Amino acid sequence: MPFATLVQRKYFFQEAGEGVPFLLLHGFPFSSECFWPQLASPPAGARLIVPDHRGFGQSEMGPGPSTMEALADDALALLDHLRIEQAIVGGLSMGGYVAMALTRRDPGRVKALVLIDTQSFADDEAGRARREAAALDVERHGMGPLTKTMLPKLFSPTAAPEVVSRLEGLMLAQAPQATAAASRGMATRSDAKDILSRFAGPCLIVVGELDVLTPPDKAKVMAELMPGARLVVIPNAGHLPHLEQPEAIRASLEALVQRLKQS
Ligand code: MLT
Repeated sequence: MPFATLVQRKYFFQEAGEGVPFLLLHGFPFSSECFWPQLASPPAGARLIVPDHRGFGQSEMGPGPSTMEALADDALALLDHLRIEQAIVGGLSMGGYVAMALTRRDPGRVKALVLIDTQSFADDEAGRARREAAALDVERHGMGPLTKTMLPKLFSPTAAPEVVSRLEGLMLAQAPQATAAASRGMATRSDAKDILSRFAGPCLIVVGELDVLTPPDKAKVMAELMPGARLVVIPNAGHLPHLEQPEAIRASLEALVQRLKQS
């Protein structure tokens, strides 16, 4: 299993497929494993590079707060470690926040952006208070209560029970310390409107039609900021269309890879 050592800290990543480098960043509170269909069957023409954010999965916790910028710096250090100058940078939900923070840090490293069930907005005051309450909850009670509250909001009513229970196991296995730190990190993220309106490369925005956490309206706001963006709404899927409709996601990603080859 490959690890990169970032300033004496283990940062786990998985790789699958061959072709254009495609850094794919997971959501909250998961690990790289949440992309199991994509790792098993990567999009044609892409080399998927899928890390575990600090403290999640098999990566060690990092120093200081888990801001989206800190998570983006970890991912940039991984690209350096792999000697990859430019990659497609994609993220699911919290991974999307990290992908946008990475684009703000170093836009030249981003060949194309893929934003899956995420949003450009920062949290409002009530949202920040909910993040702090969630952080305190996992610190005091572990991953059980958060998983129980979040899980029903992640899937559409027709999601396969075995997919739901696999994800539930993955959530329960995450470290409360990393989860609390990432919750606080998301609370401090800034609005990404400026990044998206400046980004000149290709962008694919994907959203599950039935996503109740980051619904299609929020995806449309992002698409409107980027005239060249392609917006794909996936039917019969909630917040995690890559698990409910992996073939539809695969087709969108392959179309992006083809578009890059032609440009
Ligand atoms: C995620 O799936 O990463 C989270 O729902 C993102 C968030 O809470 O804003």
